[in-house]
Amino acid sequence: MTGTIFIPLETTSSETRVAASPDSVKKLSGLGFDIVVEAGAGALSRIPDVEFEKAGARIGSSTDAGSADVVLKVRRPTSAEVVLYKSGAIVLAIMDPYGNESALSELARAGVSAFAMELMPRITRAQSMDVLSSQANLAGYQAVIDAAYEYDRAMPMMMTAAGTVPAAKVFVMGAGVAGLQAIATARRLGAVVSATDVRPASKEQVASLGAKFIAVEDEEFKAAETSGGYAKPMSEAYQAKQAVLTAEHLAKQDIVITTALIPGRPAPRLITHEMLKAMKPGSVVIDLAVERGGNVEGSVADQVADVEGVKVVGYTNVPGRIAASASALYARNLVTFLETMVSKETKTIALDLDDELVKATMLTHGGVVVHPAFAPAPVAISETV
Ligand code: NAI
Repeated sequence: MTGTIFIPLETTSSETRVAASPDSVKKLSGLGFDIVVEAGAGALSRIPDVEFEKAGARIGSSTDAGSADVVLKVRRPTSAEVVLYKSGAIVLAIMDPYGNESALSELARAGVSAFAMELMPRITRAQSMDVLSSQANLAGYQAVIDAAYEYDRAMPMMMTAAGTVPAAKVFVMGAGVAGLQAIATARRLGAVVSATDVRPASKEQVASLGAKFIAVEDEEFKAAETSGGYAKPMSEAYQAKQAVLTAEHLAKQDIVITTALIPGRPAPRLITHEMLKAMKPGSVVIDLAVERGGNVEGSVADQVADVEGVKVVGYTNVPGRIAASASALYARNLVTFLETMVSKETKTIALDLDDELVKATMLTHGGVVVHPAFAPAPVAISETV
């Protein structure tokens, strides 16, 4: 027998997602686990308890957390949740570890093995476990849907007997997973799309989706990608050149979607108040980076702000706005990762501490913070004597 998996109702009020789907429950049962889903956990993702039951889960309550060998969550557990967990339990979630060291200490003290799904390495083997991709892809799509909702004109060009409606001009800043999906979605809706990024690899991807690429392509741009595929923080000089180039372009846009992020750092500021002022009234700017400080000056978390006549949209948890799809993909990411922790022969959980996926994502284990990026620095011998 493999053990018990508990899937709680998310306690963060803004969280609509759930860390399981009927499909994932079936798969986990197939691995030999007993599954307990907290009553109502799937309600905001439109999965009624009965669907989980039909898939083989038992419906339980928050106290079931105490007997679980594995807890699957969307968000990092709160202090009140962590104390319920049994020592040695495996906890998988989007842990948001940067700057949250005290929460990591709590997880360590509880003796759980906590894994941050967002630290999954971007290697072929782990593609189906990549929560950043699965959620960012949906966020990019949803950003265009939100923009179309806020925009008071049509997206495609429409030639009618009563006259022609011009196609909306959409500019996507940051052409990673979210940005590329935003480009594709805006194109499908008939908009004229352009995009920018600091990574040279993105140029071809943007062009292949039928959008125009706009960027300062200097020596720094040519070296802006890390081996992991992420952007490096750009110099002030580069950012100044980038601002000059984009300011003129921005003024002609109807909709702008910003997605620019640099792992572990605040989001780069790409749009200033001055740039917003130069845009047409009624234009819409969607800041997908608002949770990390925002790409847009004046964007406010979870608000549609009016800045100089421009609607600046700062929704946090954008994947949660398309919760049914987001939960289904996230649940699949969790299952494929958990599968790697189960021994096929003995059908028991067998954590391989040398596995590169475990090494990259495990934050706490055996009572301590073990991840090199967050573990307290060892005290030098000279300091102890
Ligand atoms: P991200 O969410 O960290 O950042 C979003 C985008 O913002 C990135 O494209 C980044 O280059 C861009 N950016 C950063 N600073 C900027 C600035 N000042 N101006 C304009 N753009 C800026 O990145 P995301 O979406 O997670 O993906 C980055 C890349 O990772 C992908 O395009 C791909 O190459 C790689 N990737 C690889 C995967 C795999 O091999 N399994 C899976 C997913 C992504």
